[in-house]
Amino acid sequence: TIDQRVDSVLKLMTLDEKIGQLNQYSSKEELTGPAGENSNIAQEIKAGKVGSMLNVRGADRTRRMQELAMQARMKIPLLFGQDVIHGYKITFPIPLAEVASWDLTAIEQGSRIAAIETAASGVHWTFAPMVDIARDPRWGRVMEGAGEDPYLGSLVAKARVKGFQGKGLGNLDAIMACAKHFAAYGAAIGGRDYNSVDMSERTLWEVYLPPFKAAAEAGAATFMNSFNDLNGIPATGNAYLQRDILKGRWKFPGFVVSDWGSIGEMVPHGFVKDKKEAAESAIKAGSDMDMESRSYTAHLAQLVKDGKVPVALVDDAVKRILRKKFELGLFDDPYRFSNVQRETATVGIPQHREVAKDMARKSIVLMKNEKGLLPLSKTTKTIAIIGPLAKSEDDMLGFWSVGWPDNSDVVSQWEGIQNKVGNNAKLLYAKGCDVSDTSRAGFAEAIAAAQNADVVIVSVGERREMSGEAKSRANIHLPGVQEELLQALQATGKPVVVLINAGRPLVFNWTADNMPAILYTWWLGSEAGNAIADVLFGDYNPSGKLPMSFPRTEGQIPIYYNYFNTGRPAPDDDNPARYRSGYIDLQKSPRFAFGHGLSYTTFTYSDLQLSKPAMSAGDSIVVTFKLTNSGKVAGEEVAQLYLRDEIASLVRPVKELKDFKKLMLQPGETQTVRFVIKKDKLSFYNQQLQWVAEPGDFDLMIGGASNDIKLKGKFELK
Ligand code: IFM
Repeated sequence: TIDQRVDSVLKLMTLDEKIGQLNQYSSKEELTGPAGENSNIAQEIKAGKVGSMLNVRGADRTRRMQELAMQARMKIPLLFGQDVIHGYKITFPIPLAEVASWDLTAIEQGSRIAAIETAASGVHWTFAPMVDIARDPRWGRVMEGAGEDPYLGSLVAKARVKGFQGKGLGNLDAIMACAKHFAAYGAAIGGRDYNSVDMSERTLWEVYLPPFKAAAEAGAATFMNSFNDLNGIPATGNAYLQRDILKGRWKFPGFVVSDWGSIGEMVPHGFVKDKKEAAESAIKAGSDMDMESRSYTAHLAQLVKDGKVPVALVDDAVKRILRKKFELGLFDDPYRFSNVQRETATVGIPQHREVAKDMARKSIVLMKNEKGLLPLSKTTKTIAIIGPLAKSEDDMLGFWSVGWPDNSDVVSQWEGIQNKVGNNAKLLYAKGCDVSDTSRAGFAEAIAAAQNADVVIVSVGERREMSGEAKSRANIHLPGVQEELLQALQATGKPVVVLINAGRPLVFNWTADNMPAILYTWWLGSEAGNAIADVLFGDYNPSGKLPMSFPRTEGQIPIYYNYFNTGRPAPDDDNPARYRSGYIDLQKSPRFAFGHGLSYTTFTYSDLQLSKPAMSAGDSIVVTFKLTNSGKVAGEEVAQLYLRDEIASLVRPVKELKDFKKLMLQPGETQTVRFVIKKDKLSFYNQQLQWVAEPGDFDLMIGGASNDIKLKGKFELK
């Protein structure tokens, strides 16, 4: 068995070699050849002091580096890890955008293709999925996650792990997934990256842990811990998280890698005196591999010799890592992933591009569409394409794109529209302004272009470096003078379609109030322009739904749909009432709600039926209703089921997503939709943190968005 093989290797290892397996370095430099071979890292690999490398990719390069590891006494293969967050060579939409598709099969497929390309490039491991729940769009890393909802987030976590790991480690197209950042990183105070998290146990278990649990249950090979402290204890030195919950209660058999330098960062946290104490704290807490802080390699041996760290802890960490190397088949053939022919035949192929395009179309959210301005007619004669992002390629890739800045094959919006209309329409272009600088010098040219056009398409938003790691922003309004540009274009009287490209929910109230048509196009990857053109001209009917609430202003943050009612709920959200929970200067509702997203057709919900009025804990209720495409074109709807536990031993949210179905309906078609409610959907963590369903009444709500409930019902749990 693998465990026996692991033990047989472990027995032969010196303490230094064991510690080497816990050590991970990054290198973008060439470590082979005359210069590289003498570098410190190359020497350390040859001495068996490195277990894994990150940021080394390519069949050829990984092979050459693996050859260094084969010169070490124990010949233990290296693991190569890389942040493959949304595609490898072919860039897919950013993860948050993909989640807007609510299409779990497509999301799994996106991760699958990323894995196929990554594995063919010699890389064994992605640092994804990021499964942090995020209720704060100031936090730049919301772009990498699944948004604010634990139910949707858990399903997405599972889909992504399945996608990356495919039919299982050992297959040549499967890579190890890494659920990160364990845990609660998404709740960094003030949305400031790397910041502290102060959170109740209940919220931790109910909101932030479920996607991690789902990832572990789906078999994620690895977890990454986190930069933040949780209630005063850095996640990296947190035994409760890593030993009690992850490796204890959840019986996680894989290994935990630290975040970059996070072991050493426990020193500035003020949790330990120096890196030696940091190493002691981290290994005891269950951090198995040290990414780049060099604390284990510098101090762990001495800590063991001094009797401060039992060697059994080191052995356990080493075994977890060796097991994965065996599962990947690297002990049988350390070069099995490093095959240049396979790489050439696999990476960036047109079939992958097609899937990326489909994913991009699915990710687009139609926020507003007055008087059916969209889709545009293909016989439109003159189209003005305006805005700082209209011709951009780099920005379409979004943050964390493996190929950037070398990707030269990105379809800009300008190019996508050109591909679509060919010679049928005249296209005019003006940049208008920059994303964030405040010069209005380009306005006149943009106005002139608009005046000469039948319709105006304006592409605004964020640049790729404005959301992502270390990209927290206190002001998330549409940056610079972009909204002023929109005002100037509106004054021309021409119909204006706005494309908003961003890695997070932005604030754009004037635009939302005054512009007739708005598409949220996130950062959609290699095929962005073609996907957007398909939607603009009606070759694809948009069906995306928001995975995060969009605030009216930053003062509403944190903002999420599954809040508590309070003792003084505001009776009318649009009219702030005195001495009621809300603001005296603003509605409390978001500008665009969780689950919101329009279509070129309309849907009617009717005929709600519950199989019975009450159920017992071992029983279930079947909910059915009719969904009709009441418009003129075929389209997809995401029908959402929300529940509320009316009275419980702990206050429960006003609604919680518990199921959804995405259906394609032809015009006039009606389908019966069916949801089954079992005890698990009614359960929550009680005060003792037991997962219980308490008897009583439940409200049931069904609709096309969290704020657009079309059908209501009630039932009882006996
Ligand atoms: O994987 C990432 C992590 O999410 C943030 N810090 C750096 C790591 C490796 O690049």
